[in-house]
Amino acid sequence: IPVEDFDLVIFGGTGDLARRKILPGLYRRFCSGQMPETARIIGAARSEHDTAEFRQIVRDAIREFSKKNECDDALIGTFLERLHYVQVDAKGEDGWGDLRDLMRKDVVKAYYFSVAPSLFGDLAERLQAHGIADEDARIVVEKPFGRDLASAKKLNQDLAKHFDETQIYRIDHYLGKETVQNLMAVRFGNILFEPLWNSQYVDHIQITVAETVGVGGRGEYYDKSGAMRDMVQNHLMQLLCLIAMEPPSRFDPDAVRDEKLKVIRALEPIDHHHIVRGQYDATETEPSYREDAGDPRSRTESFIALRCMISNWRWAGTPFYLRTGKKLKARASEIAVVFKDAPHSIFGEEAGRHANVLSIRLQPNEGMTLKVTIKEPGPGGMRLIDVPLDMSFADALGEEADDIPDAYERLIMDVIRGNQTLFMRGDEVQAAWAWTDPLIESWEARSDVPKLYDAYSSGPEDAAMMLHREGRRWREIK
Ligand code: BG6
Repeated sequence: IPVEDFDLVIFGGTGDLARRKILPGLYRRFCSGQMPETARIIGAARSEHDTAEFRQIVRDAIREFSKKNECDDALIGTFLERLHYVQVDAKGEDGWGDLRDLMRKDVVKAYYFSVAPSLFGDLAERLQAHGIADEDARIVVEKPFGRDLASAKKLNQDLAKHFDETQIYRIDHYLGKETVQNLMAVRFGNILFEPLWNSQYVDHIQITVAETVGVGGRGEYYDKSGAMRDMVQNHLMQLLCLIAMEPPSRFDPDAVRDEKLKVIRALEPIDHHHIVRGQYDATETEPSYREDAGDPRSRTESFIALRCMISNWRWAGTPFYLRTGKKLKARASEIAVVFKDAPHSIFGEEAGRHANVLSIRLQPNEGMTLKVTIKEPGPGGMRLIDVPLDMSFADALGEEADDIPDAYERLIMDVIRGNQTLFMRGDEVQAAWAWTDPLIESWEARSDVPKLYDAYSSGPEDAAMMLHREGRRWREIK
């Protein structure tokens, strides 16, 4: 179903994110018939280009970053006709009049700030000063949304001077991932899980976002940030919120975001025994993290594991183990809910322990598995084994699975529809920094040095030990 007609302006329209994700994503939505015929995309940046050059840049980007079977010359050509380019100076007055003249009245207007956060305030101010954004206009901002509570507050204030919170869409692309939304469907669409979703039945929860890529190429940005700021403060905390929150009364933006906020506010501070930070080592052919970062003394973590506790009635006593890192064994993201053992085994001690585990795979091979215990087939008596009840989306949905939109595609369409449910609210982002800031400050104050780990391993041994001490183990990264 097509969305309403729109003019979408992408500031930083020739930048990396726009070329990799935003524009190929929009092309895909166009191919699926979701973009109205008259909708337009306007690239805006400081570099000197005209519309023809911008279209060529986008053509190349689609070819480079879309799947081969999606690239149809004729379709790309028709899509490109919707594209325009305006040269604007975010810090000066040049080009803003041209942008104003180009915008249509009576269509949805959205402004995507795909630029450094230091420019958010300038862009917001000029959009208002030049009368370009009406009161229904939407602005979309990317992470990193600040690097601590103070800078996030400042960004929120800068935006709030010119736009109402209902107009601000803060992207966390993890919220646009199909399985992440499915998490809510599974929890709140079935009666089966929710009664067990608490510390009485859940032993612990593991959230893993493992990547095989290193930071080569973006070492300079990454070294100022590290896994805590780059991944935990946003993506992993969002996953934690969705898994731990109370059922919202409705699937609407504020109802969902209110519940997420309560989870963040209930997070306990973590002492340093429950944080493990690591840096990947060099291999024979590949550089170490420190070489990639260009700083032989860097103390920034490319891996982090944390044990988080949530102080509320539902979760008191249940640890949430979070880990994420670069150059790990496999690209694998999963949330695993590990249930407690049955309170009494009628099959005797020798039957062993068999905890149920619900694992939700975010990527790749999106799907869900429930580990259940059954009798081992055969005449050997009552022997118990664990088997998976497996559902891969690709198998369950067949060809429809190919059509699952990428996170960015879905989120941009939500902006046009005016649906903020999958975007972070200002107070949520601030609460997340308010929790992470003291943790970062504490390891900085201790001059903590991250542990080295072998590239393409499961991370530092200390992370395994952290769970081992509590009689638990991480799930294998595969
Ligand atoms: C980004 C981080 O937000 O998410 C990157 O800045 C990370 O460091 C990326 O690689 C991971 O996203 P995805 O969708 O590939 O899991």
